[in-house]
Amino acid sequence: NPSPILVVGSFVQDLTFSTQRFPSPGETVVGQFFTGPGGKGSNQAVAARRAGADVTFVGAVGADAFAQSVREFYQEEGIHAALAEYRDASTGTAGILFDNSGQNEIVVALGANDFLSPHDIPDEFLAESEILVCQLECNLVAVKSVLERAGRNSVTRILNPAPLREELPLDLLQSTDILIPNETEFIGLLERLESSAPTEEELPHLSPDELGNLCRKLGPPTVLVTLGRHGVHLWSETHNKRIPAVEGVKVVDTTGAGDAFVGAFAAGMQRFPGDLPAAARFANRAAALSVTRQGTAPAMARLEEIES
Ligand code: RIB
Ligand code: NA
Repeated sequence: NPSPILVVGSFVQDLTFSTQRFPSPGETVVGQFFTGPGGKGSNQAVAARRAGADVTFVGAVGADAFAQSVREFYQEEGIHAALAEYRDASTGTAGILFDNSGQNEIVVALGANDFLSPHDIPDEFLAESEILVCQLECNLVAVKSVLERAGRNSVTRILNPAPLREELPLDLLQSTDILIPNETEFIGLLERLESSAPTEEELPHLSPDELGNLCRKLGPPTVLVTLGRHGVHLWSETHNKRIPAVEGVKVVDTTGAGDAFVGAFAAGMQRFPGDLPAAARFANRAAALSVTRQGTAPAMARLEEIES
């Protein structure tokens, strides 16, 4: 049996409003509300678990109502969760708007996630794991610490640089084996490292060589840029190619699609050892399934669906 995938990151209660269209500043629009478990770290843990992996999740919550249901949720999902409780902080929350084309706008309040500390991530979790998955939606000192410790334990480190924050220490990239940015994050990182970067419109139309050269500039030896309906660009020492997205998907809600990809990709790496394109195709199918359903963690695809 493969060892557990360790996901270190955020739990966030998603407070979601669906509307026909986004309101303009000063405008009120009518919509529908639902709430459910979210947070990039937690969503990725659920995606990996449902895609067949054994998963340990480390995160932080407050001592409020939102934290109460979450333990039960991980139990139902079969995720081994180690949640630090910060009594003076609120559990993370996100205000999400999504419109009738499935696009979204998100404001996330990190709350307790910003209190996650290196001490909340015991070394034995790293010793047991072969893959670590991190994002940037929690305390960045904890992220840096766990990435560095994982490197010393020969754990493969996946970093999803989301959300791309102002205060991002760029040396995190030196402690990353596999970087998985979306278009916006990829361009944002390039802008910090280079004087010029392509626009979001240009990005999907660059040649594989042009994209590969940009990937190389970021530092990690393997980079997968997720390009939405344009698929994924995989660049590494041995690969430089586009892996197309699944076609003919009926989009309902794209929120969490990136998390679906990252979590399922980690699971796919265990399922298809040494075959990154196969893991990426597996993850593309998981992401495609997730956008056909409302919500984030609850919309993640299960192994049987991904395989059929
Ligand atoms: O990636 C989607 C997630 O980001 C949502 O679940 C929300 O919590 C936001 O933080
Ligand atoms: Na969804």
